[in-house]
Amino acid sequence: MSRTVVVTGGAAGIGRGAVERFVAGGDQVVALDRDADALAALSDELDVRGITVDVGDREALSAAAQEVDQVDALVCAAGVQRYGTVVDTSYSVYDEVMAVNVGGVFFACQAFVPKLPRGGSVVVVASVQAYAAQKSVAAYSMGKGALLSLVRAMAVDHAPDGVRVNAVCPGSVDTPMLRTSAAEFGGGRSTDEVVAEWGRSHPLGRVATPGEVAEVIHFLASPAAAFVTGADVKVDGGLTAGLAVVLPEDQK
Ligand SMILES: NC(=O)c1ccc[n+]([C@@H]2O[C@H](COP(=O)([O-])OP(=O)(O)OC[C@H]3O[C@@H](n4cnc5c(N)ncnc54)[C@H](O)[C@@H]3O)[C@@H](O)[C@H]2O)c1
Repeated sequence: MSRTVVVTGGAAGIGRGAVERFVAGGDQVVALDRDADALAALSDELDVRGITVDVGDREALSAAAQEVDQVDALVCAAGVQRYGTVVDTSYSVYDEVMAVNVGGVFFACQAFVPKLPRGGSVVVVASVQAYAAQKSVAAYSMGKGALLSLVRAMAVDHAPDGVRVNAVCPGSVDTPMLRTSAAEFGGGRSTDEVVAEWGRSHPLGRVATPGEVAEVIHFLASPAAAFVTGADVKVDGGLTAGLAVVLPEDQK
């Protein structure tokens, strides 16, 4: 059965992977993104409707929802990665991370959840940084933790309406966001080299593809996950299963 799926951040990375997966499954997709050029390229390539919107703008999200008649699932993938400790994060970086990564999910849900039918669902892209943090991602990590609390609260509130709400928590995923970070922190090494090194810190030995995360998003949004709500599903190649403890023989 064909559904209509709204994907925020659908023009690139994990959101784009989700768009491709839903299209492949025969669903109609509406992609919301602030990058108008990337949206236009997406619409040219796939039969996808694009709406240019900054998810940090709640009025714009509400207006975008007015333009969409039917919504069966909402995927919230738009997000930004910003760095800083609690001490050196500027007000503007803090405000941006909260507006986009937290407000962008909260207000997308506020705009689109009322349109969801019984059997509808929401999938929020959080992160392993909701459970454990690398250095210098205080605001980002806090925002991702907040998303898991929001997912649980919404799962409880909307279960009586037959609407399910879940999160995916990826480890490192090969997207423009990850490659931007690799270029910034690579110390002159090639981006491929840095991404491969980050991959080795995951027990499966590599970073994920957007399609691998999209597969789990697609499952959670589908009737196959009919009894799954309030869940946060790690898609992290075992990253959070391990401890950074090595036996002496492993160090040889
Ligand atoms: N890449 C990773 O390793 C990784 C890991 C864990 C979680 N995540 C999360 O997954 C989500 C997607 O990340 P990605 O790596 O695909 O990022 P990306 O930067 O590669 O793509 C993000 C997309 O979202 C859009 N976007 C960003 N801010 C927006 C805004 N304010 N309004 C509308 N659109 C906006 C961008 O234009 C882009 O098309 C983010 O929430 C990110 O925090 C990513």
